[in-house]
Amino acid sequence: MDVRRDEPLIRVEAVTKEYVMGGEVLRALNGVSLTVGYGEFVTIIGPSGSGKSTLMNILGCLDTPTSGKYWLEGVEVNRLRDSRLAEIRNRKIGFIFQNFNLLPNLTALENVELPLIYRGMRSAERRERAVEALRKVGLGDRMRHRPPELSGGQQQRVAIARALAGDPPFCSATSRRARWIRRRAGKCCGSCRI
Ligand SMILES: Nc1ncnc2c1ncn2[C@@H]1O[C@H](COP(=O)(O)OP(=O)(O)OP(=O)(O)O)[C@@H](O)[C@H]1O
Ligand SMILES: [Mg+2]
Repeated sequence: MDVRRDEPLIRVEAVTKEYVMGGEVLRALNGVSLTVGYGEFVTIIGPSGSGKSTLMNILGCLDTPTSGKYWLEGVEVNRLRDSRLAEIRNRKIGFIFQNFNLLPNLTALENVELPLIYRGMRSAERRERAVEALRKVGLGDRMRHRPPELSGGQQQRVAIARALAGDPPFCSATSRRARWIRRRAGKCCGSCRI
């Protein structure tokens, strides 16, 4: 995948997002522009309904803008077809969802390994990476537990380990406790870029 190292990690220009409902146009994003460099920690805050999730979905390549442009590592992602977007989500973005989105029937270890399987990583390496990530978030003794057998905070730590195990350049986290995530993720991986 082409990466422009002279470009910032994220560059967004004049992005809008409109939803059409019952003939009415609802503008959720009204020309957002921002740049995020490698290693930067950026928090997006705002009142309920102000468009935070809408913007995060676009930055995470889970949705496309109505107009405007978005470059991730110099690649204009809003022009890419779905299969390339899926590859970018898998390789370049670690997701920590507000409700964690862990698979309840898989162990913590298997949950962390899953995105690495999709990436085609061989089993010994992905096991090693998943174990390391879980140890870093302090769950070395809970790897065989399934999400329902873990506390809420432990589930969130599994989600953080899953997001960081693949060492993505961009980690997207949605939480009402951003400070907590920063502290956790920062501890987990000294060189991690969020
Ligand atoms: N799929 C959709 N269809 C129509 N309107 C939508 C859709 N998704 C979001 N909206 C509207 O867009 C606006 C922004 O929503 P968004 O979810 O981005 O807000 P938010 O800042 O994340 O809020 P919260 O803090 O409550 O999570 C809201 O007014 C919402 O009602
Ligand atoms: Mg939201």
